[in-house]
Amino acid sequence: MSKIIAVHSYKGGTGKTLLSVNLAATFAKSGRKVAVFDLDFRAPSLFAILKAQSEEFWLNDYLNNACEVDKVLVDLSNRLPGSGRFYAGLANPATEAIRDMSSKDRKWEMRALGRLLALRESLIRDQKFDYLLFDTSPGLQYSSINAIVSADFVVVATTGDRSDVDGTKRMLAELYNLFEKKTGLVLNKVLDPSVTAKKAEMQTKIKESYHVPMLGIVPCFCEILRAEGSLLFVQDKPDHPFTKILGEMARKIENNEVN
Ligand SMILES: Nc1ncnc2c1ncn2[C@@H]1O[C@H](COP(=O)(O)OP(=O)(O)OP(=O)(O)O)[C@@H](O)[C@H]1O
Ligand SMILES: [Mg+2]
Repeated sequence: MSKIIAVHSYKGGTGKTLLSVNLAATFAKSGRKVAVFDLDFRAPSLFAILKAQSEEFWLNDYLNNACEVDKVLVDLSNRLPGSGRFYAGLANPATEAIRDMSSKDRKWEMRALGRLLALRESLIRDQKFDYLLFDTSPGLQYSSINAIVSADFVVVATTGDRSDVDGTKRMLAELYNLFEKKTGLVLNKVLDPSVTAKKAEMQTKIKESYHVPMLGIVPCFCEILRAEGSLLFVQDKPDHPFTKILGEMARKIENNEVN
């Protein structure tokens, strides 16, 4: 079963953060113990989306070997009803912290990879977390590659934008093939309703052109844009089609049906 899920993309703004947070919340709603991590250190956004703050230590500090992960996790379980547990590991949004993370060298990134890999032991084995979700920076920077390497399953979000399509294909062929990562593609912000309607046909098309299986198709929803990133969407709008689509994605990942 996939325990660590990274959400990545070639270009920015494809919906990684939206998908990470709402997939995590979907798992937590169904009773799972889940943590979502902001690995986008150049443009931290989970603190804003979740309206949460770290008390003392940020995810940056865990990667810097300055604390254990327990000191970083913010318990947001009270945001969701039911028995699930929902935690966040936040990236520090302070300008100094962003500059500091941008100047890390390769050696530091190697050690950071070790810290990420160690989460499997500390959180999944010892603290019985069911899922860890990694929200990443777009493109091929080290922090994203570290997230991909540590994950069991990678959700790649793409839009219909021409440069996004080409870049995503190249990235999947050159980088993901190298790591042999289990991957599922999400076609996000789809404007053409006929694309959404022809799911089976799209599944074949995506496999043929991207050489990875499709995890889901998400239309562009005005309600999401209108919420301006402030909604824990699957929680606040349980009957919305987006919530149903995310439920289907979570089920596919859980049952290992992405192939
Ligand atoms: N299916 C959708 N329908 C409507 N709006 C969407 C959809 N998916 C994402 N958005 C919106 O697009 C914007 C970018 O989404 P998000 O921040 O999740 O992307 P991202 O890939 O994390 O971006 P970045 O690369 O900058 O981190 C947000 O305003 C989000 O609400
Ligand atoms: Mg983001």
